[in-house]
Amino acid sequence: ARPETTEPELAEPHLRAVLDTAGLAVEYVRAQDNTLFWLDEDGTEIAVTDFAGGYGSVLLGHNRPEIVERARELLASGTPVHAQFSSHPYANRLAAELNRIVGRELDTDEPYFAIFGNSGAEAVEAAIKHAEMDRGMRLAALREELARHTASVRAAVAAGEAKVTSRALAGAGLDATAPGGDFETLAAELERHNAELFARPPLFLSLEGGFHGKLAASVQLTHNEGYRAPFKALAAQARFVPRERPEALKEIWAEERGTLRDVRVFEGRVEVTEREFPAFCAFLVEPIQGEGGIHVLSEEFAAEIQRFCASIGCPVIVDEIQSGMGRTGALLASAQIGLRGDYYTLAKTLGGGIAKTSVMLVRQAWYREEFEIVHSSTFAKDSFSCHIALKVLELLEADGGAAYRRAAERGDALRRTLESVAADFPGVVKEVRGRGLMLGVEFHDQSGSASPALREAAAGGLFGYVLAGHLLHRHAIRTFPTASALNTLRFEPSLLLSDAEIARLDGGLRDVCAIMRDAAGERLAAG
Ligand code: F0G
Repeated sequence: ARPETTEPELAEPHLRAVLDTAGLAVEYVRAQDNTLFWLDEDGTEIAVTDFAGGYGSVLLGHNRPEIVERARELLASGTPVHAQFSSHPYANRLAAELNRIVGRELDTDEPYFAIFGNSGAEAVEAAIKHAEMDRGMRLAALREELARHTASVRAAVAAGEAKVTSRALAGAGLDATAPGGDFETLAAELERHNAELFARPPLFLSLEGGFHGKLAASVQLTHNEGYRAPFKALAAQARFVPRERPEALKEIWAEERGTLRDVRVFEGRVEVTEREFPAFCAFLVEPIQGEGGIHVLSEEFAAEIQRFCASIGCPVIVDEIQSGMGRTGALLASAQIGLRGDYYTLAKTLGGGIAKTSVMLVRQAWYREEFEIVHSSTFAKDSFSCHIALKVLELLEADGGAAYRRAAERGDALRRTLESVAADFPGVVKEVRGRGLMLGVEFHDQSGSASPALREAAAGGLFGYVLAGHLLHRHAIRTFPTASALNTLRFEPSLLLSDAEIARLDGGLRDVCAIMRDAAGERLAAG
């Protein structure tokens, strides 16, 4: 409940009121390692184990001492935070270090160029802007080539070296017997057909359940209808591909593809040929869907996406904003399922839990240096964030990658606990999913529960939030469901997670599972 104050509440009061209904509008006053603290009535600190952590942001723990110490040093030394449009050696070092790690995990020495941002969605925006700039440049080159071909065929016809046949007219969709079936009629029709394609907005591909941010262009790639629908008119749209259904890729391509019409001379005849129109700007994919409810992409489907995109000349943007930075036991979760991105986005833990930073990486084969001149941000690539991110990579890479191994080991320990709860409550827990320290527990739908409280929570779409409120107030556990997966709770703690904290989560989950099994909704904490 809100402390009694007279000042007006103008920073999203409605959201706070909604969180309040589930007892989640708690004011945290301090954060350390895996713990957040709030104050009870007499000012005593109450510790809460954080399994949410910005959903991927604090793999190394809240206010990690080595990172806070680095921040102090930077600020004490007067680091030039705002030195935009100058030489940023720390940004180059960070890009080089990211390349070293990415190169190791992908077993490639092809460089990835880095464009820095300030948030995850901003990195996604930079990726899709770059992909569209690249697509536009490929379209321009195609247009020139088609124009050159038309001009050379026009010259050949004028020189009597080639003639227009009814086949050519039919190839352009013209009625072969139409009067004036001359070259100019044909050329005009080809130009009209191609111009229509060139005028099309780009189309994106994204998976059902995908989440790629909530800014104007990135939100179009986020599947959740509630987040996306109000803003559809703002930017290019995506086709959403059903998870694990590779045949859907071909169906969508068949529906959305375009073929440009080219023209050439062959054995004295004018011939119309077809060229694939680059209709798709990029395919965005999370190796493990986070906001969508923790769904791990299979190696087979990842390979299918890779093959499909290569066949239609569409780049793959691997969004590792939540799954990346060591959470699954490596910098890139995607490298572990054989997915090789043309672009990557990283954020959250890149800032070590105290800096706001993100990066978009583009494979050299796709990179357009022109992008650097037309895209920037006042705060991006700043010395403070880059040095903090370098410290983060140093902590991840220390002792031959001990942090990655720790994340994997802690993830296994947490997974064993979640699986044991699922085994003891088969009618309540539907599935445990995820990898490393990116785990989710999906509960069966409770809208048919004998308990009115559980039925109402399920019907009102607040089911997961009510569980989260109970876990917070009865078991000092902080987690949330997501708007896209209301029956799934996510568990993404730091790698400092202790066995005692896992045991407390075990107790809390068994408590909520028993409430669901026994339809004892009245036992739920009212928050
Ligand atoms: N991409 C992915 C895969 C994400 O998980 C998120 C954020 C973003 C992009 C956007 O990053 O918030 O820094 O702009 N995921 C959070 C979640 C919000 O709840 O899963 P942002």
